[in-house]
Amino acid sequence: MARLAIFASGNGSNFQAIAERILPTRHTVEFLLCNNKNARAIERAKKLGIPYYLVNYRGEKRENVEEVILNYLSKHRVDLIALAGYMKIITEKLIEPYWKKIINIHPALLPKYPGTNAIERSYASKDRELGITIHYVDTGVDTGPIILQKSFIRDGNESLEEIEKRIHRLEHLYYPQVVVELLDRIGEKIE
Ligand code: GRF
Repeated sequence: MARLAIFASGNGSNFQAIAERILPTRHTVEFLLCNNKNARAIERAKKLGIPYYLVNYRGEKRENVEEVILNYLSKHRVDLIALAGYMKIITEKLIEPYWKKIINIHPALLPKYPGTNAIERSYASKDRELGITIHYVDTGVDTGPIILQKSFIRDGNESLEEIEKRIHRLEHLYYPQVVVELLDRIGEKIE
């Protein structure tokens, strides 16, 4: 078995999709880490019976918050961290000890449209092929080594809402799958 932590800031639909996929396996979702007390992700964690930690960045140095996060991670002996709509930049302090142990999902085909509002920006483009990227996290914004990309071809008549739905459907299908594969690999090494 291997231990997962999920970081989310908002809605938490990816958090829930991953958690539901992991719960019946031998792996564990140790906790949700959230920086927003009003996040729907917290409600989802409560319903799923998954513990959560709330961190507050306001008025705090990023390094101090990451120190707190490092303590949670080592206390729970976390093997893998999945960022799922975590709207905070993560620094070297966290990345260095967890290199290739932190992954992220991005709702566009990187290296195109990194950063925020990626769905809107790819929708507004002339690109016919849209999709998602799952990648390792490095110190840049959405620049780390790519693990998996999945895409679809649009005909151009879709509304933004329809495109969003298609993107989220891909996310909810493939992000949990990648997480389980990585946990399986980590678990084999540990056992
Ligand atoms: C997803 O579109 C993900 O790709 C991006 O943030 C969004 C989070 O959605 N990084 P949710 O909170 O999982 O519903």
